[in-house]
Amino acid sequence: MKPMDSRMARDRAELVGILQLAYSGELAAGHAYRGHWRSVSDPDERSRIRTIEEDEWRHRRQVGRMLHDLGAAPDRRREIRANVIGRVLGALCHASGWLAPMYGAGKLESRNIREYETAARLAWNSDRKEWVDCLLEMAEVEWEHERYFRDRVLSHAVGRRLPIWPEPPPKVRIRAAFEFETGSPSNDPADLPCILSNY
Ligand SMILES: [Fe+2]
Ligand SMILES: [Fe+2]
Repeated sequence: MKPMDSRMARDRAELVGILQLAYSGELAAGHAYRGHWRSVSDPDERSRIRTIEEDEWRHRRQVGRMLHDLGAAPDRRREIRANVIGRVLGALCHASGWLAPMYGAGKLESRNIREYETAARLAWNSDRKEWVDCLLEMAEVEWEHERYFRDRVLSHAVGRRLPIWPEPPPKVRIRAAFEFETGSPSNDPADLPCILSNY
């Protein structure tokens, strides 16, 4: 195997790993947010968190399609664990008060941004360039989720006094950083259409 081929194989294996992680993470998030929006009483919050839940199920379908196209399957153990964790967290939202689920969600979302940014780079390096736009769009959606939960935490008198997780760079940096690193415009739909957009 040539050095280039072995590097591509390594990136592909890493891509499978990160997509498996994301796929199960979205399962946990979907269940957790379902419990979360049902536990809040403010209509605007209920509606926004419900939309976030739908975003996570959509991400899971998209990531699942990518795994399938790579000839890979979800990690069964992670799936079982994510299912339990998500449902437990969703149920806890009814008992833990308003602030804790908002804080926990925001912190988790900041990790999700980086996860999809990394997946976009691995897709690019393993010759799955047609997925880059999709993955960066998912990172941008996670960025919006993080922003929402950060704002909610900061709207709370106690939340404002808590040590808060590091603020992600501005949203435009997601594509700018990708373009800088790869030398390719990522946001031109003609160049890199998201083939999974209707999935
Ligand atoms: Fe997501
Ligand atoms: Fe999210």
